Amino acid sequence: MDPKVLDAARAAFPPNPQAITLGAVVHDGQCAPEPIVRLPLSMVNRHGLIAGATGTGKTKTLQLLAEQLSAAGIPVLVSDVKGDLGGLAAPGEASDRVNQRAAETGFGWHGAGFPVEFLSLTGKLGAQLRTTVSSFGPLLLAKVLGLNDTQTSVLTLVFKYCDDKGLLLLDFSDLRAVLRYLSDEGAAELKEYGGMSKQTVGVLLREMVELESQGAEDFFGEPEFDLDDLMRTTPDGRGLISVLELRDVQDRPAMFSTFMLWMLARLYGQLPEVGDVEKPKLVFFFDEAHLLFDSAGKTLLQQIEQTVRLIRSKGVGVFFVTQNPKDVPNDVLGQLGHRVQHALRAFTADDEKALRAAARTFPKTKLYDLEETLTTLGIGEALVSTLAPNGVPTQPFATRMVPPASRMGPLTDGELRQMLDASAQVKEYAQDIDRHSAREMLEQRFAGDAAQPAPADAPPPPPVPSYAQGYGPPPQGYPQPGAAPPPPGYTQAPPPMPGGYTQAPPPVPGGYGRQHAPPPPPPPPPPAPRRGRAPKEEPGVLETVLKSSVTRSVATTITRGLMGALLGGSGRRKRGGLW
Ligand SMILES: Nc1ncnc2c1ncn2[C@@H]1O[C@H](COP(=O)(O)OP(=O)(O)OP(=O)(O)O)[C@@H](O)[C@H]1O
Ligand SMILES: [Mg+2]
Repeated sequence: MDPKVLDAARAAFPPNPQAITLGAVVHDGQCAPEPIVRLPLSMVNRHGLIAGATGTGKTKTLQLLAEQLSAAGIPVLVSDVKGDLGGLAAPGEASDRVNQRAAETGFGWHGAGFPVEFLSLTGKLGAQLRTTVSSFGPLLLAKVLGLNDTQTSVLTLVFKYCDDKGLLLLDFSDLRAVLRYLSDEGAAELKEYGGMSKQTVGVLLREMVELESQGAEDFFGEPEFDLDDLMRTTPDGRGLISVLELRDVQDRPAMFSTFMLWMLARLYGQLPEVGDVEKPKLVFFFDEAHLLFDSAGKTLLQQIEQTVRLIRSKGVGVFFVTQNPKDVPNDVLGQLGHRVQHALRAFTADDEKALRAAARTFPKTKLYDLEETLTTLGIGEALVSTLAPNGVPTQPFATRMVPPASRMGPLTDGELRQMLDASAQVKEYAQDIDRHSAREMLEQRFAGDAAQPAPADAPPPPPVPSYAQGYGPPPQGYPQPGAAPPPPGYTQAPPPMPGGYTQAPPPVPGGYGRQHAPPPPPPPPPPAPRRGRAPKEEPGVLETVLKSSVTRSVATTITRGLMGALLGGSGRRKRGGLW
C-alpha cells in the first residue's frame, strides 16, 4: 500500500485507548493489517450515520459499535427491525471468514456476548414499553392524532382540566372517559375553559377512538417504562444493550417513531446537562432509520432534528442506520458528525445522483476518488470519516471493518424465549396496572357517589421492584460469554471479571448495578405507594388527590414544558397508517 495513505491515516487516527475500533485502511485493493480507523468515545455524542446498499454490512457495523460501547461501560439502545441484533447477547463463533478478516485487519478477535435486555412495544418480544397519557403530554399526542392548532389547544386544555380536577390520565380509557364526559354531561364545565367547544371535544374523541383501535392501548398505561432502566451497567462494568424488538410492529412505523421521539424528549428532560464528556452516557442506534422518517410529517421531522441537536449536551449519542443518506432529512443529516458509508450501487440515474450526493458529504481528499470508491467497496467495508477529539472531521478512508465479537445473526426462538423468561425486567413490566384514575373517578361521579372511597376489595397494584430488591438474578445458563479475555482491540474494556451477566449472580444485590449504584439499602421500607390507588374523594382527602395528581404532574409538566420547547412550532400533519 502507498505509504502516503497509511501515514495520512495514522495522522488522522492517532492512538487513542478511549476509542471504538472500526477497522483497517483499504487502498488500491490492499488492506493494511492495522486496525487504526477509530471513533473517539469523547465524540460519540456528535452523532453519526451508517449508510449503504442492502447487504453491505450496516447492521454489523452497528453491532460492533454497540458492543464496544458496552465493553467501555456505556449503555446502548438499538432498534431491531429484522430481529438480527439479538445476536449481541451471544458470543460469535470463530470461523474461517472471521479469522481471515481478523488477520486482514490486524485485529485480535475473540468471541464475546454482551449484556442484553429486550424491549417491545407490544410486550411480546421483550419488556413492555409503556407510558402514561399524562406523561406523553398533549403536544406530542396532538402530533400523533394529527390535530390542527385549535384542536391542539383544546387537548392542552383538557389536560389542564384533568390536572385541575385531580383526574389522573393514565391510559387511553381515561382520556376517552374525560372526553366523553366533557362532550356530554360535563359540557357545562367547559365554560370555565374558554375556547373549548363541545364539537372540538367530539372530534378529539373520534380521533382517540380511532387511534385506540390501531393498537395504542398496549402502549399507554402503567407501569410506565422507567428510562433509568436504559442506563444500567453490569457489576463488571459493561453497559447494558437494550434491544428494542420491532419485528412485530413493522407495519406500524408511527408507533415506533412516536415512542422514540417521546423517549428522546423525556431523556432530554431527565438527564442533566453535561456538555462535552469523556464518554457518552447513552447511545441510540436507529437501524432501518427510514422507518423513523418515512411516516413523519414536517413537524415531526423538525422535532427529531431539534431533539437530536439538543440531546448532544446531555451526553447522548444518536446513530442513524439506513440505506441511503437521503433517507435522512437534511437538517438531521447536518447534525451527524461521523460517517460510515458502506457501498452504494449506481444502477439508475437516481442512484447516480444519490451517489454523487453521498460523496459530496465527505471532506475532500486526494487519496481516493470518492464516487468510484463508494461503488467498489466490498461487503463489510465502508468509507469512514469520524470527528477527531478536536471536533474536526478526518479525511475519509476506505476501511475494512473488524468483525463483531458477538454472533452475526439472530438468536434462535428458543434462545430468545429463554432470555425473556429469565429477565426480571420483562416480568416487572409484564403486569398491566389499572389504577384508580380518571375513568373510574368519573364513573363514580356519574354514579353520584363521588364522595365514596375506592372499593376496598380492589386488588392493590403489584409491588414495584426497588433498588433493594434489585433486578433478580441474571438469566442462567444462557449465553455463556466464555472464558476468553476481551479482544485486545477493546483496550478501553474493563478487566475481565469472573462471572458475567450470564453467569452466577454477583455478590451485590441485583443482576445489574445502576451507573450510580446506591449504597446497600437498609431494611426494606414499607411498600411504597408509588403506584398506589388514588385516595378517595373526601373533604380533606380531596386535597390529597389533587396533591398527588399535582405531584405527579409536576414531573409531567416539566416534561411537557420541555416537550413544548422541543416540539415548538405547529402545523398540520397528514395522518396515515398511524399505529
Ligand atoms: N464487519 C464485518 N465482519 C464480518 N462480516 C461482515 C461484516 N460486515 C458485514 N459482514 C457480512 O455481510 C453480511 C451482511 O451484513 P449486514 O446484515 O450488516 O448488512 P446490512 O447492510 O445491514 O443489510 P440490510 O440492508 O439487508 O439490512 C453479514 O451477514 C456478514 O456476513
Ligand atoms: Mg441491516
